[in-house]
Amino acid sequence: MKADVLLGLQWGDEGKGKVVDVLTPDYDIIARFQGGPNAGHTLEFNNIKQVLHTIPSGIFRKNKINIIGNGVVIDPVVFRKEIVSLTEKGFEIGDNLLISRKAHLILPTHRLLDAASEMAKGESKIGSTLKGIGPTYRDKIGRDGLRVGDLSSDFEYKYTAKTDNHKEILSKLYHFDYEETLDACEKEWFEGIELLKSFPIIDSENYINEKLREGKSLLAEGAQGTLLDIDFGSYPFVTSSSTICAGACTGLGIAPSKIGKVIGIFKAYCTRVGSGPFPTELHDEIGNFIRKAGNEFGSTTGRPRRCGWLDLVALKYAIMLNGTTEMIMMKADVLDQFEVIRVCVGYEQDGEVIESFPFEISERLKPIYVELPGWKCDLTAITKVEEFPDAFKNYIHFIEDETGIPVSIVSVGPNRDQTIRLK
Ligand code: GDP
Ligand code: IMO
Ligand code: MG
Repeated sequence: MKADVLLGLQWGDEGKGKVVDVLTPDYDIIARFQGGPNAGHTLEFNNIKQVLHTIPSGIFRKNKINIIGNGVVIDPVVFRKEIVSLTEKGFEIGDNLLISRKAHLILPTHRLLDAASEMAKGESKIGSTLKGIGPTYRDKIGRDGLRVGDLSSDFEYKYTAKTDNHKEILSKLYHFDYEETLDACEKEWFEGIELLKSFPIIDSENYINEKLREGKSLLAEGAQGTLLDIDFGSYPFVTSSSTICAGACTGLGIAPSKIGKVIGIFKAYCTRVGSGPFPTELHDEIGNFIRKAGNEFGSTTGRPRRCGWLDLVALKYAIMLNGTTEMIMMKADVLDQFEVIRVCVGYEQDGEVIESFPFEISERLKPIYVELPGWKCDLTAITKVEEFPDAFKNYIHFIEDETGIPVSIVSVGPNRDQTIRLK
């Protein structure tokens, strides 16, 4: 069997959690391959609303295996909160959640380093979620990190050595006062570690490849989005992991030849949270309207998301990087009331037309829009393709024609049921 990959084609928050939950019945295993608690994946069903940060979004379905892969960075504090919240809602989490021995640990000092680094950057800050992501991946790449597998021997020694080094950076480089915060954080952190250790800790790359050989199916769940990728996103305003399809190979130990479908997910418009360029951003009433109608506030930090029109230049770039085989369009219902919907098909800078995603996006870069008629009706109650208004069909076909990639599913509301399969 080959593994399918589901990932975000924009700046994150496309609705990955919802769709993974919807698709889980088609798979035996769901595996997260990168990112950490900077992710906030929201699922809604049976009057339950749950935001997942570390745990894969297949966790609500019975008889499925969920894996936190080696490419993920885990904060035991957030992990514990997630487990507690799920248990309180009556979901039993046990042997259905497996954790890679090679996943890296976010230490309390990583979180403090994230805060100190952002403070030092001032105006030019990344707008990080302050979950310690950057410093943890920095230690991973610097060959200086701590992994889940390290918990089994001499951990106190390794932990102390590592955090002593972090403390020195915090005080000497950043002049950051950490004493009081750190004590409280460490207590919580070690409680989280005890809970983490009660789950099966495995060599997930071996497990996954064995299951694929046995004919089991796997869906790899991405976090963030392609335009936040460490290599191809709007650097330096990116996250610190490979959010593209290739990240599923390194983040789970799946060879490129074992990748099947690459399912790219995008909103019918665009959002971005944190700093960095966003060519189609709307600073006007339309942007405010989308934010309100789409409830565009961060699932992890609660920050208002920046909103704008769909950007096909950026979308095509993301499709190319991922080898996207099909797309899922989310949140079309948010545009229900518009007379006219704009879609960016190119950029213009200093009189020159640009049709590819540029190295640097300056203030002078302006989107070129085409206008499509709005559908002016409530999509949220629609259950069949046949009920789609013509203008909505036209919007989907326009995107398919421009990108050359089919839209296989359309989502018209946050709920599990508000999902319509087209192909
Ligand atoms: P993720 O990080 O990609 O999983 O996305 P988030 O959960 O951060 O953000 C997506 C938000 O949109 C969540 O609040 C979802 O409940 C919500 N959502 C998902 N699909 C739809 C949809 O089709 N319509 C509307 N109105 N909301 C949706
Ligand atoms: P999901 O999986 C949207 C953004 C942050 C910031 C930048 C770097 O829910 O789609 P980091 O904490 O990674 O150092 O922040 O990336 N960011 C996200 N934006 N959705 C996410 O995840 C994000 N994870 C990080 O806002 O701009
Ligand atoms: Mg999110």
